[in-house]
Amino acid sequence: MSSIHEPVLLQEVLEFLDPRPGKNFIDATLNGGGHTRALVERIMPQGRVLGIEWDPEVAKMAAERAAQSLYENNIIVVNDSYVNMSSIAERFHFRPDGILFDLGLSSWHYESSGRGFSFKRDEPLDMRFNSAAGPSAAELINTYEVAELEQILRDYGDEQFSHPIAAAIGKARWKKPIMTVPELVAVVESAVPNWYKHRKIHFATKTFQALRVIVNDELANVKIGILAAIDLLPSGGKLAVISFQGHEDKIVRELFKQKTKEGIIEIPIKRTIRPKWEEQKINPRSRSAKMKVALKI
Ligand SMILES: C[S@@+](CC[C@H](N)C(=O)[O-])C[C@H]1O[C@@H](n2cnc3c(N)ncnc32)[C@H](O)[C@@H]1O
Repeated sequence: MSSIHEPVLLQEVLEFLDPRPGKNFIDATLNGGGHTRALVERIMPQGRVLGIEWDPEVAKMAAERAAQSLYENNIIVVNDSYVNMSSIAERFHFRPDGILFDLGLSSWHYESSGRGFSFKRDEPLDMRFNSAAGPSAAELINTYEVAELEQILRDYGDEQFSHPIAAAIGKARWKKPIMTVPELVAVVESAVPNWYKHRKIHFATKTFQALRVIVNDELANVKIGILAAIDLLPSGGKLAVISFQGHEDKIVRELFKQKTKEGIIEIPIKRTIRPKWEEQKINPRSRSAKMKVALKI
């Protein structure tokens, strides 16, 4: 991969999942395999990691990299969504001792995918991890009702100017469809007050986050994926979930609460695990990371 994605909370993940020779793990969000590599080094020579990656380009790079490594026989790369984890595990007769989710997207997506994930680049507005995921961000922006766009920006981006931004999108696309990142950024800029443009957080951040979440149906996927993981784990199996935004974290918290009540999991570490200051200094992306862990009963 051209942009190195630093694995977040790596020490904390290893401490909790406790990989040892012969153990098997599922990395539900493989990407460049930062976490997987650390796991596989510790489970050699018999243990295996089943790595699931939804993005075909990323999965191809990960498979090539695994094939050229010392761990060729210990990593299985599958290009699919983690929502299909049960059938994927069944296909490979894979019984995991632990499962990791590291949600969201990678540095590569922002910097090298060319799909408009970053508001800083001149790229088409695609934003899909996988083109089979449904309509692109451009299709959505140019076809959804203005009221629907407003709701998306409010509910998935917590955007306080969802109303004027959605109205400005509606007006702009009358003249010409909004197809690129700079075109969308200009529309957002025209809709928000001046003070909003001079804050630490870029004025288009929330619009872009909301669109990405909805384009990839991320919140529904997280829910389905985590339930599938809990189901798949054997008694004593470990689940770790790293999230980067409030909506995901809330879903994890609620699912863990519900499954604890049902007596299916227990929570061995009650608090949310956050990166240490040392990690936050080196890797700014880690600053919003929150990890929650569970143990199958
Ligand atoms: C934050 S990155 C994971 C980074 C990885 N743990 C590492 O340290 O190298 C998240 C990855 O999950 C992938 N992804 C997003 N949704 C997915 C889904 N539904 N199923 C599988 N992978 C998904 C993204 O394409 C991205 O590559």
